[in-house]
Amino acid sequence: MRFSGKAVIVTGAASGLGRAIAKSLAQEGAKLVLVDRAKDQLENLAVALRNEGGEVVEVVGDVAHEQTSKQAIALALSRFKALDILINNAGINPTGTISQTDPATWRHALDVNLNSAFLFCREAIPHMVEVGKGVIVNTASIAGQRASTAEAVYGVSKAGLIMLTRTIARDYGAKGIRANAICPGVLESVMADRLTRMSVDQVAARDERFAPTVPLGRLGTYEEIAKATLFLASEDASYVNGAQLTVDGGLTA
Ligand SMILES: NC(=O)c1ccc[n+]([C@@H]2O[C@H](COP(=O)([O-])OP(=O)(O)OC[C@H]3O[C@@H](n4cnc5c(N)ncnc54)[C@H](O)[C@@H]3O)[C@@H](O)[C@H]2O)c1
Repeated sequence: MRFSGKAVIVTGAASGLGRAIAKSLAQEGAKLVLVDRAKDQLENLAVALRNEGGEVVEVVGDVAHEQTSKQAIALALSRFKALDILINNAGINPTGTISQTDPATWRHALDVNLNSAFLFCREAIPHMVEVGKGVIVNTASIAGQRASTAEAVYGVSKAGLIMLTRTIARDYGAKGIRANAICPGVLESVMADRLTRMSVDQVAARDERFAPTVPLGRLGTYEEIAKATLFLASEDASYVNGAQLTVDGGLTA
């Protein structure tokens, strides 16, 4: 039970990777503040985890709004009297080249994928500094490490998130705070917002196209990325700070 008694905030917890991370943390004894805008899905997960004996509270809100970060951190401190770990995982996946991306889409993607992490970190860090310890894990992507075709704003937002992580590692390491980014490759599950723009055939074609290009010969699962995220969040990674942990089956090797 690596996270026994630890107070953890997970954003984007209602589905996909965030859900897998929340479940794994609950199994390892963490007390959770789960954040997502998808009200029903979030509440269903929170109820399920509480029924299994977990200490779980939820915040329904948009991570791009400063109010949501304030609410989540205040809830961790009031309910659990602590904030040990912050996992900024919520994200959206708009596609398109620069000329295919309208300014509103560009700004919105940066707000959700990058500025939200700034807001949550800005709110959480003073409390972590006060107690002299804290851990931040940001879900980035290999799309933030090298350019992907027609993923302009997504890649820029994830590259920004990696630099946000490194900046925190440098500025706050001496205060006992570790910050790391996890960079998943191509996963079996397409992100929910992108899935709304893809047919079943398009998803199958994507999987067929990518799997042979991965040295391990297959796409990754949410559970595999959750395990790597928990490693970074845990004391097993006590000397890991400012890292980009690529978990992509060797795709970018
Ligand atoms: N699936 C992949 O192939 C993949 C690959 C690399 C990186 N990632 C990253 O992993 C993270 C999770 O992705 P996923 O595959 O689980 O996607 P997902 O769409 O299944 O989950 C994202 C969650 O974030 C929530 N969310 C989105 N915008 C929000 C907002 N403004 N406010 C509050 N909640 C919001 C959604 O409701 C959803 O529950 C993302 O940051 C994504 O960029 C995913």
